[in-house]
Amino acid sequence: MIEYENLHHANKAFLKDFAKSFHDTLDRGWFILGDSVRRFEEEFASYVGARHCVGVASGLDALILSIKALHIPESSEILIPANTYIATILAALHCRLVPVLVEPDQATCNIDPSKLENYITSRTRAIMIVHLYGKACDMSPIMACVRKYNLLLIEDCAQSHGARYKGTMTGNFGHAAAFSFYPTKNLGALGDAGAIVTNDTAVADEARKLRNYGSLTKYLNEVVGYNSRLDEIQAGFLSVKLKRLEEINSHKRKLARIYLDTLKKQFLKPAVNPDFHDVYHIFNIRHPQRDALREYLLRHDIKTEIHYPVPPHRQKALEPYFRGKEFPISEEIHRTTLSLPISFAHSPETIAHVAEVLNKFPS
Ligand SMILES: Cc1ncc(COP(=O)(O)O)c(C=O)c1O
Repeated sequence: MIEYENLHHANKAFLKDFAKSFHDTLDRGWFILGDSVRRFEEEFASYVGARHCVGVASGLDALILSIKALHIPESSEILIPANTYIATILAALHCRLVPVLVEPDQATCNIDPSKLENYITSRTRAIMIVHLYGKACDMSPIMACVRKYNLLLIEDCAQSHGARYKGTMTGNFGHAAAFSFYPTKNLGALGDAGAIVTNDTAVADEARKLRNYGSLTKYLNEVVGYNSRLDEIQAGFLSVKLKRLEEINSHKRKLARIYLDTLKKQFLKPAVNPDFHDVYHIFNIRHPQRDALREYLLRHDIKTEIHYPVPPHRQKALEPYFRGKEFPISEEIHRTTLSLPISFAHSPETIAHVAEVLNKFPS
């Protein structure tokens, strides 16, 4: 059986260094906000090319604390892509903002910049973009819109570690950027973890307080904060993996190239454009008979995933917010998308086999 993802195999290359990092932490006996978190924050900020990184407990918390650190007033409207993982929208709701969903571009599946202006009102304060599947959004027109309407920009980089747009790494465009290090991400921890990246010192300071009960100095609480800290053990593991993130990304790019070069035209493949350096957190194809295709692959011992089977605006939890709203492009993507195996543990031979089986799909 070809797994969609096997974290045991994907992490094998790091086991020795993980063990050393774990034992170093045990030896130090310091588990919260210590040397490992500080070191990882410096390393990750430097990798992204940004001034600050603040480690937090998850990607969702990184989004929530980014909104809070930017002081976006409650009841403001925030533009969010309709085609995203639900976390992006939950973050806005937890901060009592009004999420306004914008349809994606058919080819990239990311927010369609040409539609942004249609949704801007006197209550719009921010845009929260998502660099979905490991592809950066089309940043030039988005930045032009942000400047024109004096908006705040938050990047959801949960799927885009190392992805670039015209040479600039995602995480550098917004007033704040939120990363998830959920275990399956291109840079994945061995549990939950996340980070906020920003070039604004005031935003970084605020996020540092917010993640730690509103405190920078023990037992002095300046703002109403949370407990959302990246822990020392995960930070140590992340430093181990960060050293090889470019290797992980180039492996996935190499596997993607096999699919791109060999899959027949009947499959709608991810768009490729020299302005975009994609890191293929997910390699999705689209096909009108997606469910039959998935079953066919399973019969040939190939597991796939769907990102995502139900669009956020159709989720029961979000029903009251989007009742009666239609997002046909996002729905079409959800209906037809299929994510193919593309992990650090997969070999080029395995991926070539998956492509060969796919090309024999009777349609
Ligand atoms: C686009 C996007 N945003 C946010 C998140 C939330 O990250 P986490 O699971 O670390 O809270 C995810 C996680 O899968 C995601 O894919």
